Amino acid sequence: MCGIVCYIGRQPALPILVEGLKRLEYRGYDSSGLAIHNGSEVQLVRELGPIRNLERKLGSSQWSGTSGIAHTRWATHGAPSEENAHPHGDCRGEIYVAHNGIIENYRELKSDLERRGHCFRSQTDTEVLAHLIEEFQDSSLEEATQQALERVIGTYGLAILSRKFPDKLVVARRGSPIILGIGAGETLAASDVSALLRHTRKVIYLQDGEIAVLEQDRFRILSHQQKWIRRSPETVEWDSEAAEMQGYPHFMLKEIHEQPEAIQNAMRGRLLWEEGTAKLGGLEAVADRLRQARHMIIVSCGSSYFAGLLGRYVLERLTSLSVEVELASEFRYRKLNFRKGTVVLAISQSGETADTLAAIREAKRKGALVLGLVNVVGSTLTRETDAGVYNHAGPEIGVASTKTFISQMVILHLIALFLGRQQEVPIAEGQRIQEGLQKLPDQVRHILSRQDRISDLARRYCGYHHFFYLGRKYNYPVALEGALKLKEIAYLHAEGYAAGEMKHGPLALIDEEFPSVCIVPRDSSYEKMVSNVQEIKARRGKVIALTSEQDGDICSLADEVFPLPSNLEILTPILAVVPLQLFAYYAALHRGCEIDRPRNLAKSVTVE
Ligand code: G6P
Repeated sequence: MCGIVCYIGRQPALPILVEGLKRLEYRGYDSSGLAIHNGSEVQLVRELGPIRNLERKLGSSQWSGTSGIAHTRWATHGAPSEENAHPHGDCRGEIYVAHNGIIENYRELKSDLERRGHCFRSQTDTEVLAHLIEEFQDSSLEEATQQALERVIGTYGLAILSRKFPDKLVVARRGSPIILGIGAGETLAASDVSALLRHTRKVIYLQDGEIAVLEQDRFRILSHQQKWIRRSPETVEWDSEAAEMQGYPHFMLKEIHEQPEAIQNAMRGRLLWEEGTAKLGGLEAVADRLRQARHMIIVSCGSSYFAGLLGRYVLERLTSLSVEVELASEFRYRKLNFRKGTVVLAISQSGETADTLAAIREAKRKGALVLGLVNVVGSTLTRETDAGVYNHAGPEIGVASTKTFISQMVILHLIALFLGRQQEVPIAEGQRIQEGLQKLPDQVRHILSRQDRISDLARRYCGYHHFFYLGRKYNYPVALEGALKLKEIAYLHAEGYAAGEMKHGPLALIDEEFPSVCIVPRDSSYEKMVSNVQEIKARRGKVIALTSEQDGDICSLADEVFPLPSNLEILTPILAVVPLQLFAYYAALHRGCEIDRPRNLAKSVTVE
């Protein structure tokens, strides 16, 4: 999410920062900005939209300043706008801050600072950092930063420039990367190594809790125990193209690997352990209306629709809502009877999908409370809904949705927990679900560590032309998503089915040339799934099973078994989707398909 680059050296900082921002633009592109110290003053420029807009605004400016910080933004708090673009300043225009991450306690900090007379100009969480540092103006910049950060809850990769200290920049890291670049007579830092490589290959990865002071000819690192420490640079071997993908060959694989973090970001600051519930700030304004709701209609397209299908099972399990899920493109053709208290929830990664927008406009006309679950902050959907929840999953570049799908599933659980705890879900069950949710990032990491096994499976199976993907209950929507992934990027025919439906027609297609991918965790539908697998085997169909069983019937029946970690039944789809994404990815790779931009498809579908 977002990109930071900073430079202090002998050359004019402006062209170096702009070039660095361009390298980072894939991380966020709703606005950008930079602050440069010219020896006596700080010059600031910020602009809405892509970096080229910033360049246009700069025109032929020849700023001579040799130190500065720059940022390209992916909005999390506050819509994309010039005033919300970074760097953000304090009250006196002395301190400038560029930030990646989320300050979770910014509301409390902001009201406290406002009471103390600070004047805020943006809606961002970041601006509190500039004002907090201003509070410690009598200290050195690094001490002021360190004291300010002691009051902060949340994550940050941070770059700070102060008018008072022209010979240094300060950077800090907690949960969001900052890498120092050590050049000859110049020191750089960035949130991503790709922005450094034109200048140096010697880098230092800052650790969580560390602060670094950058000067022209040296750098210093303050450990999280407030001790100055030494660390030698390491040499990066990648070229800058590969570095943008952090060494991954495709954005899709990178985004699959970012899923543990996407799950964490979806939950960050949203779990209230004591009360066994979830806190969703974006829904607070409509909490009363939501509490009275009896009927929910989820509208969405593509993968977001499948997330909605899972949402139905989870919401119905934990709340007394009756839930319908409708494809946004079909919504207008239904004569939906909106009862009193109908809530419409639109799910969309981009927030720009034309059919989803048309559906919420129709729902609003009918007087429903309209909510959004959206990744792109400030997108059209977020502006047209009454309230909503953000994914905070960061930019997703690969056309096939992966990390935002997993994030949507997690947040739908949080919404169900939030509503369910207001109804019949007891505190202990809420806490049990929280425990399960908290296990997910490590369990997903564990699955990812076994990707070679899936690559091997995909290599052996990608010669088949047709596949079934089968699941029941919570894993039925994930079967649909697995099949969609294979179609989208590997151009293979795949059908997702509710396993119980096989006997009603599809089973006629099964023979040794038509393999089935079956999701069979040890849960309440295990026995029935095993029977379905038996029916396929009896017709010589090959079976790839995903299961949490170590050596149960399914292991002897299936041709291939991929193990899933154990977790609550309601959470298994969040684990099961990961091997399915990897299977599609490797099938596409082995078949030589274009992975990040599959033929005929687009990331954001803005036509109906
Ligand atoms: C396109 C994308 C899919 C996505 C769908 C819905 O088809 O390729 O990955 O699921 O649109 O997009 P949305 O942004 O509304 O979630």
